[in-house]
Amino acid sequence: MFAKRLVAISKPYSQHTVTYVTKAPKPEIPRNPLRDVYSASSQQTNGVVYDRKPFKVTLEAGKTYSWCLCGRSKNNPLCDGTHKDIYLKITQRPVRFTVEKTKEYWLCNCKQTKNRPFCDGTHKSKEVQEATNVKVG
Ligand code: FES
Repeated sequence: MFAKRLVAISKPYSQHTVTYVTKAPKPEIPRNPLRDVYSASSQQTNGVVYDRKPFKVTLEAGKTYSWCLCGRSKNNPLCDGTHKDIYLKITQRPVRFTVEKTKEYWLCNCKQTKNRPFCDGTHKSKEVQEATNVKVG
């Protein structure tokens, strides 16, 4: 019986498939389904660098959120209305967004992402890492 089992699991050398994994797969970067609905999504300027790294947040599917683009919210990465302060002369408006699945997402906190409001790795750039006006260390 033992000899039969060995025969059953052994295959000729040519039938084995060897897969080498040298890097972990890149995480999926979600897109904002509301990016074409609100004009604020296509603003040309970015806000100040709030932080040099993204922030992980659990978001609910179908709920609408406002992501802070100006970088001055005290509730980052979400908007708290600071951009409305006329004395600060902030030109950026928050970006409304939603998600299709309830789960954790990495939201951009450097405010320089090209895939608002989700982190796309731009925070690793020299400009962000060496920014001097960062709100959070
Ligand atoms: S935190 Fe802004 S791109 Fe990652």
